[in-house]
Amino acid sequence: MTRVPTYWDYLKLDRLLDLQGGVDDDEAEVSADELHFIVVHQAFELWFKLALRELRLARDLLAAPHVAEEVIPHVVHHLARIHRIFHLGVDQLAVVETLTPQDFLAFRDKLAPASGFQSFQMRELEVLLGLDARDRVVEGGLDPMGMLERLGRGSPAGQLAWERVQAARAETTLRDGLRRWLHRTPIQGSSPGDPGDDEVVRGFIEAYLHALEGTHGRETARLQTVPGADAATSEARVAQGESLARQFLEARDAPEAERAFTRRVRAGLLFIESYRQLPLLAWPRTLVDTVVELEEQLVLWRGRHARMVERVIGRRIGTGGSSGVDYLDATARVRIFGELWTVRTILLPRDVVPPLADPAFYGFRA
Ligand code: HEM
Repeated sequence: MTRVPTYWDYLKLDRLLDLQGGVDDDEAEVSADELHFIVVHQAFELWFKLALRELRLARDLLAAPHVAEEVIPHVVHHLARIHRIFHLGVDQLAVVETLTPQDFLAFRDKLAPASGFQSFQMRELEVLLGLDARDRVVEGGLDPMGMLERLGRGSPAGQLAWERVQAARAETTLRDGLRRWLHRTPIQGSSPGDPGDDEVVRGFIEAYLHALEGTHGRETARLQTVPGADAATSEARVAQGESLARQFLEARDAPEAERAFTRRVRAGLLFIESYRQLPLLAWPRTLVDTVVELEEQLVLWRGRHARMVERVIGRRIGTGGSSGVDYLDATARVRIFGELWTVRTILLPRDVVPPLADPAFYGFRA
């Protein structure tokens, strides 16, 4: 006989609803405030689980050696679900704010030194998105990864958590997949491997920087209309912006061996952003926008979490041993997809971008 599933069987509700017993695994000992605290954290971890699945799907599609145009909407679809999850997460933190500082203090000692600091799924997310280990915020030697590694030696559950993070570290990241894909962007009709591609890329970068420098007078004149603006300071700021643009596009910050690759990645990104109205670039620019939106939501979540924490525990140290709010604010300043943000600083108005060498290639019929 075919088994007819019930709602509770399908969702394993008997097990799910029996997991809120806290430290002593006894729900009778858990206050309504603590139950709320546990439920919200569990709900988040379930969302993180889904986000990880979506992220791996997006990454697999994007990291392929060739990404057909019709595949990009699928990548966007997976990533959009993740940013909607974080968007929801921002609102979900409002529920936590119904906890008054003293309500929280009533059970805080029970759970210390446990902390979201030990959320191995959050670490997996950061790693798989592509957070560079050098950008991780480490305060006074308190490294979240080192902590997970130490906890991994203490119990089977800890070991499992650490193994998951380790496994994620061995995987290709979304950032790497995205950079490889950006590297293949046809620039002025030329692709990597085409004869003279490097000259085309360099030529595009030079033409762009030339156009940027051509806006110097317009920029300084605009700044001088600011009441009280100092002409020398304005001049220096505009010049500094131009020099940053050159360093970025020539990839002077990249190690020598990676410079040509990084230069093409950034030129590809700049090309997509600069000619985003072209039909062939419609999905590429949507993908770039979606990644920016995803990181924006993650950063907003971090900022929202920090403000919620400030409201509930003030500036005291966290149960995980960090400085608390200062640490959380520092994590909100980190950018995983830094190039996607930096390029925005140097974009030019449409009327001055260098002319397209081959408009028909990008589906533009003049
Ligand atoms: C009263 C509620 C909360 C307080 C007071 C709080 C406090 C803190 C503090 C102080 C930290 C920094 C690490 C430490 O020293 O402990 C932290 C980290 C963290 N919390 Fe919360 N938190 C709360 C609720 C939540 C919720 C609902 C989530 C949802 C999953 C969450 C997720 C995290 C994560 C993922 C981190 C690590 C952030 C990072 O290192 O990048 N927290 N929390």
